[in-house]
Amino acid sequence: MITQVLVLNGPNLGRLGIREPEIYGSVSFDELVELCRSTGRTLGLHVDVRQTDDESEMISWVHEAADARMPVVINPAAFTHYSYALRDALAMRTAPLVEVHISNPAARESFRHTSVVAGVADGTVAGFGLVSYQLALQAIAELAAESNAGEPEPGLQEPAEPAKP
Ligand code: DQA
Repeated sequence: MITQVLVLNGPNLGRLGIREPEIYGSVSFDELVELCRSTGRTLGLHVDVRQTDDESEMISWVHEAADARMPVVINPAAFTHYSYALRDALAMRTAPLVEVHISNPAARESFRHTSVVAGVADGTVAGFGLVSYQLALQAIAELAAESNAGEPEPGLQEPAEPAKP
């Protein structure tokens, strides 16, 4: 069974490759998209990668994932540190959620040491560059497999009709 996953990216991540390459590396956002898709393929995941600089758009994607019971990998970027609105949206999740960061916010400026979303995620992967996304997708694959194992196979949910005499 293929699991659909959303990989959501917050403000300024569309500028990967140009933005502070000494911190975020020289790989572009388009290359990150390809890396996530190909990593997903090896894990049996269909990965839809999105980026926005707009908090409202990000929250609407989080609602979409909750309604569709879709797992999410999210790099909330600067929203991580102050967006209670995003945190409240993520708290409504109905499927696995992994927070991801390219850099290690704990080793940077003090305003980055707080994540308001970490408390509603299954876990956080930070500090491994783009490998953080690959590790997050691996965690999602494991978590999704665990939750699928507890559910009946599609088509087997209705009890069989008793045989007619
Ligand atoms: C980031 C870390 C955040 O502190 C920062 O605001 C970002 C990127 C990361 O991936 O390392 O935009 O989330």
